[in-house]
Amino acid sequence: MPFKTWLTETLGIKVPIVQGGMMWVGRAEMTSAVANAGGLGFLFGVNITMLPAINAPDYLAYAKAAVQEGIKIIETAGNPEPILNLNSSLPTGVFGTATNIRGLLQRWSRRRMCAQELKIPFIASGGFCDGKGLATALVLGAQGINMGTRWMCTVEAPIHQNVKEAIVKMDENGTILVLRKFRNTTRLARNEVTLEVHKIENSKLDPQFQEVAHLMSGARGRGVYETGDINAGVWSVGLAAGLIKSIPTCEELARTIEREAVDALSKASSLYSNRASL
Ligand SMILES: Cc1cc2nc3c(=O)[nH]c(=O)nc-3n(C[C@H](O)[C@H](O)[C@H](O)COP(=O)(O)O)c2cc1C
Repeated sequence: MPFKTWLTETLGIKVPIVQGGMMWVGRAEMTSAVANAGGLGFLFGVNITMLPAINAPDYLAYAKAAVQEGIKIIETAGNPEPILNLNSSLPTGVFGTATNIRGLLQRWSRRRMCAQELKIPFIASGGFCDGKGLATALVLGAQGINMGTRWMCTVEAPIHQNVKEAIVKMDENGTILVLRKFRNTTRLARNEVTLEVHKIENSKLDPQFQEVAHLMSGARGRGVYETGDINAGVWSVGLAAGLIKSIPTCEELARTIEREAVDALSKASSLYSNRASL
């Protein structure tokens, strides 16, 4: 148990790694495997997605209702500001996870900004899949990492083997951003369906969501995970896919990440000596 951070101490978990809410994927099999490996599986929390909306719901009311119902963990996607003012004495942790849409450089600077601006502990999210990433996040001031894509490529992930193998084969161009014109940019696997969505939304100045709704359907996306036909619909996958080359158990993955993070931090500290003279 090499890591002791606010996250591990507060939740009593062994390794500072979270499995974020994942539609169709973050089911009991996934969550329990992550928890048994020492991480935080996300099933019994509430996920509040705060992306730009024409009529934004009352997010604070949602969050208060969740707290009143005894929910211990709230994960947010998008800007968590509307609910950060929840009374900090409440026994609920709020995990703000950066939506998976921007470039790496911006993410780096955003994480530095989190460390500078936030008065509460934060967890870095998006693009993490290994121990070097965990080490980096800790150095940047985060208390742990949140992963989605990496957990999809585990033995226990309740999705078709074809999808896991498709992720292993992906390079850095395996994803695509869609729905930008609808101010709801989303990173998805680049496949026949998302290329069609991309084509339609970029074919005119003012496309209507109805024109792509049938392609974006969640039911079709679910079919991908069930049948293994990776062109059956749209499905979420992050940039980390380009780095993922194996399908381990969650236990193997968590131990590898821990070991790699320790190695990375030791190597980095060996570059420094307080005896070094300029
Ligand atoms: C298959 C999949 C489904 C997801 N579903 C949701 C969702 O329904 N709502 C949400 O806010 N985030 C969702 N996410 C985002 C994850 O909770 C997490 O923040 C993200 O995957 C972290 O980035 P990474 O994939 O690069 O590790 C999903 C991610 C994946 C990979």
